[in-house]
Amino acid sequence: METSVVILAIESSCDDTSAAVIRDGRLLSNVIASQKVHEEYGGVVPELASRAHQLNIVPVVDAALRRAGVAREELSAIAFTRGPGLLGSLLVGTSFAKGLALSLGIPLIEVNHLQGHVLAHFVEPSEEMKAALTMPDKIRHPEFPFLCLLVSGGNSQIILVESQKSKDKSTHLPTFKILGQTIDDAAGEAFDKCAKVLGLPYPGGPHVDRLAKLGDPTHFHFARPNIPGYDYSFSGLKTSFLYTIRDLLREHGVETVDELAERIPNLREDLCAALQETVIDVLMRKLKKAAKDLGITHVAVAGGVSANSGLRQAFLDYGRRYRWQVYIPPFSFTTDNAAMVCQAGYFKYLDRDFCPIDAVPYAKTTI
Ligand code: KG4
Repeated sequence: METSVVILAIESSCDDTSAAVIRDGRLLSNVIASQKVHEEYGGVVPELASRAHQLNIVPVVDAALRRAGVAREELSAIAFTRGPGLLGSLLVGTSFAKGLALSLGIPLIEVNHLQGHVLAHFVEPSEEMKAALTMPDKIRHPEFPFLCLLVSGGNSQIILVESQKSKDKSTHLPTFKILGQTIDDAAGEAFDKCAKVLGLPYPGGPHVDRLAKLGDPTHFHFARPNIPGYDYSFSGLKTSFLYTIRDLLREHGVETVDELAERIPNLREDLCAALQETVIDVLMRKLKKAAKDLGITHVAVAGGVSANSGLRQAFLDYGRRYRWQVYIPPFSFTTDNAAMVCQAGYFKYLDRDFCPIDAVPYAKTTI
């Protein structure tokens, strides 16, 4: 009889190589190697990302096992991100996971990256990890059913997450139903592309966040999408941002944003504040509508953009105003990480939901 369930998880969907280890539902390690190589290109270069994953994967997995104090022979299964993501990047993690699982004679568990982001809310770090990451002693996990606003560089979705335990099946993995999603750009992409126009480094989201704190959101106004249902659209906002700068350049007879910034005090700060305020307003209005229509009061946020300080504050404000229980993930579990993949893998292990050795990665999928 098995006494301990130990899962190693591998995440390599984009430009972070990450590995994590969980024992009986307790996260023991979460190692992330971020790739700096893309900075000079202002965005992720898929070919370079795959190569960097090849370089990083062995040391990252080694470090995750070492920090967890777990030997390879103790592993019960290997979980890996199967998609969605960059195919070349996914192939590195997938192939590594397969090789390790085969050599150890243990099962493989495929994880949907987007489900992973939502399940980051259920990660329970060990006491040592909580202390090292300065996390609260008691982490609140969402109550079912809940809505999750998943906002990252590639996705903006409102997801209804329901437990299956109340139904005839009693599986640990909840069900995920997408109520709405972006019909064009994701929120993170809007931040990154607008930041690029301002000459800010990649990824631009954290820089917009930093500058927005110093700006006045009322100085500039950008177009807000008006599309039906719970779907989002951010491409019009991006164009509106671009046209605002184009018009200012013409008006001041200059060619670059740097020259413009010399003439207009607080230019970048005010533009970032207005951009951030608009993105947050668009995201929260639809979320509020979904929560009201479905009568749901437990609301979570996940994905890289959930690191945004304005969005986190908006969650707290909406929570107070509409009596929601809000769930905001610790910073370490917002951007891509293997801890969330480990959590999904752990639930699937308990459900005996394994995948065949010939599973191939997928670049695109819904949840
Ligand atoms: O979840 P993630 O690491 O990768 C994807 O799966 O896409 O999200 C990355 C995205 C990028 O667009 C990045 O600019 C954005 O998250 N991001 C932020 C912040 N931190 C990361 N956006 C706004 N404010 C932040 N503080």
